[in-house]
This record gives sequence, structure tokens and C-alpha cells, in this order.
Amino acid sequence: MKGVILAGGLGSRLSPLTKITNKHLLPIYGKPMIFYPIETLIRAGITDIMIVTGGSHAGDFLRLLGNGREFGLKHINYTYQEGEGGIADALSLAEYFAEGDAICVVLGDNIIERNIVKAVKDFKTQGGGAKILLKEVPDPERFGVAEIAGETLVNIVEKPAEPRSNLAVIGIYMYDGRVFDIVKTLKPSERGEFEITDVNNAYVQEGTMTWEMLQGWWTDAGTFESLLRANILVSQTGANNVDQEEL
Ligand code: G1P
Repeated sequence: MKGVILAGGLGSRLSPLTKITNKHLLPIYGKPMIFYPIETLIRAGITDIMIVTGGSHAGDFLRLLGNGREFGLKHINYTYQEGEGGIADALSLAEYFAEGDAICVVLGDNIIERNIVKAVKDFKTQGGGAKILLKEVPDPERFGVAEIAGETLVNIVEKPAEPRSNLAVIGIYMYDGRVFDIVKTLKPSERGEFEITDVNNAYVQEGTMTWEMLQGWWTDAGTFESLLRANILVSQTGANNVDQEEL
């Protein structure tokens, strides 16, 4: 399984912090934001990683991360997103890297207290399809929101005005090799972007999407409030924690 970290975008909700740098290079406690999703993948045993970035600061990722030696990697793959086509558009750039393999996609501003070791193991035994992780949140209208009936995932709605649940779809997704064909069938949303939620709903409709609840805290870091929260949470507990028995 390969890993894809999406670290493009304008970060406009964090302007002026993002005027002279990329959002994912901003600090979260002791490290640049992009370190956390890289560690999330590595802790789950995923070491073949591509970073999708864009904008005018893309070169800074190379200067910061190089070949990933600090993380014990031999190599990091990079690709460049032109324009602002949204998350699913950024993902489409990883098609040649994936070469038909399953992938774990992590949004570069998503930080977790614990790990995705179990979810990755479970996905590998599921034999295709996709998997998402859910987390109860007080403000679901900010996220993709999952509607669950019993154990069945019925639907995901992107940033609903009236959420049907408090279950946010976090920005860590697992897909089989067909995800790139699905992305090609998408139409732009009302905000003019190719939405990851539409990719996920394609798997939901096909009946091949599974879900798990994420253990430990989760936060994004794309607004002033969530950036502050991410800093505080990481300072209190650290991130990407794994207990020996989980491995
Ligand atoms: C994106 C996704 C949303 C998901 C969120 C997680 O939203 O579109 O479904 O819940 O990431 O961080 P964004 O924050 O990019 O608008």
C-alpha cells in the first residue's frame, strides 16, 4: 500500500499566515505541519509516500524534507498541482505513482493523537473498495458528515447546513486502485472543486465502503481556531502515538 499526502491549496482561511508560505509548512508545536501526516503513514508501515503540493512555495517542501532521511525514508516522491481544483483533483496527480496499488490518502492538515495501524490492517484484508475513519465532533457542519443507519454507512454530505449526525469524515482515506477511474467521472461541486466526498459516495453506492471510529483526538489545522487547537493538543499528548501491542 502506498501513501499520498495532499499538501496543496491556497490556505486562504489562514491568510495572512499563508501569504508567504504553504499552510502545511506552518508550525504545529515543535514541527512543521507536514511532519505529522508523514509520521501517520510511517507509523502504519506505509513508507512509499508521495506529497502533492502546489502554489509558489512548493520548493520549500524539498528544502525541508529532502529524501525523508529524518523519517528513516530513502526517498520521497513529489508532484505539483497546477491551479486549485480541489482535493480529488490533487489526488488524481498520484495516479502514475500508485500504479494500480491501493493507497492511503492523508490530508496534510489532519493530525491525530493515536494511529491508523488497525484501520490499515483491516483495509488490507477487506479485498478492495475503500475505508474512511469517523470522529464525533461538536461542529460537524465544517466537515464531510456521515449518515449511519445501524452499522451501515448510508451517505456522506459535504459541509451540510443541517448535519444528520455528529460524525465527521476525517481526512484519512483508503482506496483500491480504481479510485483514479472514479475521480475521472466526477463533476465540479457548487464551489467549483472536485470533492473527495463525491469519491467516497461512489464507493458507498457501490457497497464497498467500510468505516471505523478513530481512537484518540483528531483535528484539522486549516483555520485559526483549529490551528491553535492542534498546537495545544500536540503540546499536551504528542501525536501519532502507538503502543507496542498495537503493532
Ligand atoms: C476536507 C473534506 C471534508 C473533510 C475534511 C477533513 O474539507 O472536504 O470532507 O471532513 O477535509 O479535514 P476542507 O477542510 O478541505 O474544506
